[in-house]
Amino acid sequence: MMINNARHSYVCPNCHSALEFQTKQVVCQNCKNTFPIDEYIPDFLLTNQEDGGEKLKNRASRFDDLSKVYESSNWGGSPRIVVWLLTRKIRYKAGIGLDVACGTGVVARSMAKKINYVYGVDISMGMVQKAFDLSQKNTINNISFARCDSENLPFGDNFFDFVSCSGALHAFPNAEKALKEMQRVLKTGGVLTIMALLQKNIHSVIDPTKRELKKSSTDEEIIEFNKAHSSMENLDVKLHRFTLAELKMITKKIGFNNFKYLKLGSVLIFSVER
Ligand SMILES: C[S@@+](CC[C@H](N)C(=O)[O-])C[C@H]1O[C@@H](n2cnc3c(N)ncnc32)[C@H](O)[C@@H]1O
Ligand SMILES: [Zn+2]
Repeated sequence: MMINNARHSYVCPNCHSALEFQTKQVVCQNCKNTFPIDEYIPDFLLTNQEDGGEKLKNRASRFDDLSKVYESSNWGGSPRIVVWLLTRKIRYKAGIGLDVACGTGVVARSMAKKINYVYGVDISMGMVQKAFDLSQKNTINNISFARCDSENLPFGDNFFDFVSCSGALHAFPNAEKALKEMQRVLKTGGVLTIMALLQKNIHSVIDPTKRELKKSSTDEEIIEFNKAHSSMENLDVKLHRFTLAELKMITKKIGFNNFKYLKLGSVLIFSVER
């Protein structure tokens, strides 16, 4: 089973120490945090926070609503051109890749064709479960999924040859913290590719879909779409609209090099190296 491969590579998202995999949970050998395993998917969301992780869980549940319509005709994952632009930067077929905020795995599945092994992580269990099902359906065996927050990745330092994060940086409460975490797990010389929104906000993405929805969808699809839409509107964190200069500045400050970018309207695709 895929989880067996994964056993050797995940570490504690809290202290980065070794984990013991038991049947239904994972236990950190150092800080003793425990993490449940839900249908082959380890759940590394940290609950040892002031509010017991409630804020994180609340955010995650909004994306669970989105997962029900995600990669449907009404609400796509990253478009094919974006996936291609992000994954063409993979240099080592023999390497290991990570897709942060993988959603239903549209980028992770493409990465799996170009690199030896891929991990996909996302804050929403609904998303990673769907990602897992879709990878099984497509008989992709070199891939594992886990739930975690982008600010606390369950991987050791210097582990990945390639990291990607598509369509999510603008939705993170603290993009700099998440980027630092991606840098920590990336090997020196490794490449990070990001797709982030520049100017327009989520409404400009949703509104055309909403119009399209009216034409062709079943009542059930419309209900699911409206639920997902309202969950996104009620996200406790506003989407952050980056400027190019800001992203250049943040990545430089963290210590990334070689900023290269491409603008497709308000969509920015960029790569940096560690
Ligand atoms: C618009 S979707 C993008 C999904 C996928 N990367 C794609 O390109 O289709 C944004 C994703 O970010 C995830 N997400 C939001 N905040 C997160 C966080 N703090 N940590 C990890 N994932 C997060 C959501 O659950 C959602 O799956
Ligand atoms: Zn620990």
